Amino acid sequence: MRKIKLFPDPNIDCPFEDIYAPSDDSYLIIDYFKDHINENYFDGLDIKNIKNILDMGTGTGIIALFLQEVKKKISNFSPNIYASDILEEAIKCAKLNDIFNNHKKSINFIHSDLFKKFPGNLKDSFNVIIFNPPYLPSFKFNNKVRAKKKIDSSWDGGKTGFELFLEFILQAKPFIQLDQKFYIYYVSSSVSNFQDIYDQLERSGFKNRTLKKKHIFFEDIILNRLEKI
Ligand SMILES: C[S@@+](CC[C@H](N)C(=O)[O-])C[C@H]1O[C@@H](n2cnc3c(N)ncnc32)[C@H](O)[C@@H]1O
Repeated sequence: MRKIKLFPDPNIDCPFEDIYAPSDDSYLIIDYFKDHINENYFDGLDIKNIKNILDMGTGTGIIALFLQEVKKKISNFSPNIYASDILEEAIKCAKLNDIFNNHKKSINFIHSDLFKKFPGNLKDSFNVIIFNPPYLPSFKFNNKVRAKKKIDSSWDGGKTGFELFLEFILQAKPFIQLDQKFYIYYVSSSVSNFQDIYDQLERSGFKNRTLKKKHIFFEDIILNRLEKI
């Protein structure tokens, strides 16, 4: 059964077939937040100091919309919420869900491949970034079997499964407010050895913490948090 507690799950619908339907990994993040956000702290960060949050790869918008639910319940929590995706249909779907949940178009949507189309004024601005990324290794797309589809961008993280994630980290750094405490939340899978990149992440100035795991079918899905070393 789904946890409700103080913050309800947003209502999600999507008329586009290529958009990732919220799944165990989406709820791994949301359930962690349900347990770790209160009137004063966002998982240990002073809730009043959080000015900008980004939901990268928003899909249906579920995580950004959940954060809007949190804003409704906690008066000290009033960050600007940004949500972006490489797929135009994802942005359309998330905008419909924003209206569906009566949030009065309060999310700032950006249609972009990672940070490529982000405006310069968002540099040094994010205190929290959340990315439930494509985290599985690619298989070869043989045109005779089937061509690559848009939905594949939901799971295909590159040859080893973490190429896209490493590119995300590289591009994210200038957009984080580095002089304050910040968090980057992301999901990985036991199928792709994300442990192999922890040293690389440390060299880039990020410490990795494993927050939560869930076993499903053939893999463990893992919620991680990067923070300042
Ligand atoms: C696993 S889905 C997660 C969707 C949603 N956040 C959730 O948790 O249900 C990954 C999302 O990342 C998006 N994505 C993939 N590559 C991207 C890129 N280069 N830039 C931005 N978004 C990307 C996909 O389109 C997809 O919506």
